[in-house]
Amino acid sequence: MPYTIGLFDSGIGGLTVMREIRRRFPHHHMIYLGDTKHVPYGNRHPEELIRLAFTIVDFLVAAGANIIVDACNTTSALALPLLKKAYNLPFIGVIEPGAREALRLSPNKRIGVWATQATVASQAHLQAIKSLDPEAQVFLQACPCLVPLIEAGKTRGPEVERAVREYMAPLEQQDIDTLILGCTHYPFLTPVIKKMAQKGIKIVDPALPTAAELEGFLPPENALSGEKGQCLFYVTGDPGRFAEIAFQLLGWPELKYTQQIKLEKLPLAL
Ligand code: DGL
Repeated sequence: MPYTIGLFDSGIGGLTVMREIRRRFPHHHMIYLGDTKHVPYGNRHPEELIRLAFTIVDFLVAAGANIIVDACNTTSALALPLLKKAYNLPFIGVIEPGAREALRLSPNKRIGVWATQATVASQAHLQAIKSLDPEAQVFLQACPCLVPLIEAGKTRGPEVERAVREYMAPLEQQDIDTLILGCTHYPFLTPVIKKMAQKGIKIVDPALPTAAELEGFLPPENALSGEKGQCLFYVTGDPGRFAEIAFQLLGWPELKYTQQIKLEKLPLAL
């Protein structure tokens, strides 16, 4: 039997994670929720982010998800440990897989991390990397301009290049050899980042190791019938706008059927 994988993010960012999961596990069903009413998450208070994450997971569980991928670094940093305790369901986040992959690739263990302000403040990447290798040097860089650009469908051009240069400079000064894209929106900028970054810096998109981690939780693909899994998309904001920009970036026909939902405001579930 195929599983139903529930994924969530503040907007289109988590689709970079879903892209890898679809590539690897095309026969499982997926339900994606983009909380576009509240994007960007990066400048929200941790308590609000926790409340939003619980409300979203309640929705995904009610919709039939039997495994949850927190496809957002900000909620993986702030809410995931609490979600794991509260629900009797497997959860996968994006921070630990990215940390492991960066350590695997980094020759000198000088690792830069681009992330939202809330993720940087949480120091989740720093802790994840240091717990695996206490000797590693970690340099955190908040990139507040990037999510609004990407949500507006801007993934190249002078404005994007200016922002990428601004956020790369402090990390290059620290002589990093590896950069973690610690926000799931940023992989949409990979071509620009590769063009602008000093040659030799390895770029880590945590979507790949996150998808690999799912392997241990899903029935093997060859145990399933050949039918493709179904994908459903929900947003809390304007569905037309989400569908248009996501379709430009990914070309998935199912995005046309994106539906808007209203999430019930639940009391803080701590
Ligand atoms: N894509 C999300 C992340 O990985 C959220 C970005 C935002 O909404 O600020 O952190």
